Amino acid sequence: MKLWTLLFSGVVVMTSVVSAADPKQEAFGKTKDGVPVEIYTIGNSSGFSARVMTRGATLVNLHVPDKDGKLADVLLGFDNVSGYESEGNQYFGCTTGRVCNRIAKGRFTLDGHEYTLAINNEPNHLHGGLDKALDKLVWKAEPFSSDKAQGVKFSCTSPDGDEGYPGTLEVSVTYTIPADRNAITIAYSAKTDKATPVNLTNHAYFNLSGEGSATVLDHMLRLNADQYTPTDDTLIPTGKIETVEGTDLDFRERTRIGDRIESIGKTAAIGYDHNYVLNPRAEGAEMTLAAVLVDPKSKRRMRVMTTEPGIQFYSGNFLKGQAGKGGKTYAHRSALCLETQHYPDSVNHPEFPSTILKPGAKFESKTSYQFDIDQPVSAVQQKKK
Ligand code: BGC
Repeated sequence: MKLWTLLFSGVVVMTSVVSAADPKQEAFGKTKDGVPVEIYTIGNSSGFSARVMTRGATLVNLHVPDKDGKLADVLLGFDNVSGYESEGNQYFGCTTGRVCNRIAKGRFTLDGHEYTLAINNEPNHLHGGLDKALDKLVWKAEPFSSDKAQGVKFSCTSPDGDEGYPGTLEVSVTYTIPADRNAITIAYSAKTDKATPVNLTNHAYFNLSGEGSATVLDHMLRLNADQYTPTDDTLIPTGKIETVEGTDLDFRERTRIGDRIESIGKTAAIGYDHNYVLNPRAEGAEMTLAAVLVDPKSKRRMRVMTTEPGIQFYSGNFLKGQAGKGGKTYAHRSALCLETQHYPDSVNHPEFPSTILKPGAKFESKTSYQFDIDQPVSAVQQKKK
């Protein structure tokens, strides 16, 4: 009798803690301060899967099938936490904030107070600052799964004054992979107790041929943007919004990234490093189709959908040959970022959509990276018939 009771309770405990569909959890190392970091695997039955870690609520791996069903990891990154803490890490896959992108001279005024932030990208503030920026924090994780999806919700608190920003900010970032599609959705939410700027993005570096492949210059890109925000030489917007027509920034038609990069490389941005103003989303649509990226070799196609008004297209200009996963080399322009966000330095540009979150309001933002195989136009037309 006793034995049965023991066995039975054992089974109950086992099944409630580790059901087959639960995201796998593993140790990923410890931060330099000795804090343990966990990594979770989420995916669907086609083999499409991601690994996300608690440091920086970071997307570490993304395994995507090619035209022959062969999986490759399409994200730059490292094999352990110390890689992410090394100077070779240029925001790989992390959640960037409290305010991603640049704030001019690290200064802004809100409700009559002037706030001063770290200058970590001379002469400006970049991606939320230094040690207390969201990408450096170890977040709390809550994995979840159902027959419809698998995911992990990360949450953290950024105390009032951290990195110079006002207000205690409660943030969450939820990664979800649906069971029936090769897509990963990132949903952000935040609350504050004082008015404060918030602009969150993910800084994934993609190479659709697989991380470690030579360059992304042969990738084809389409951006659903007729306009962009021109900048000064320090990549701070001038405040103008201009058309891409007649410029090297025009990606309204599918264009090879390498075609015009040398000429744009002669500017201060030294390649693509521009915020595009996304065309308005269709009435009633939750998200806008922001970008379509295709690797002609593997035929992997990625579509970026978002609720955000802008997207920073950054062509990996500062990658410097650092060693990444499995010791692979990450050369100049061997990956690119498509960072959905509000426009850079919005806090100093009242003419841009506002990034100010007020107490009592909820910040919400969503971006979805959706993958399939690129098909020749004729095949698509055939299907429609
Ligand atoms: C910025 C680049 C910057 C890079 C750092 C991008 O979001 O636009 O200018 O060098 O992040 O990794």
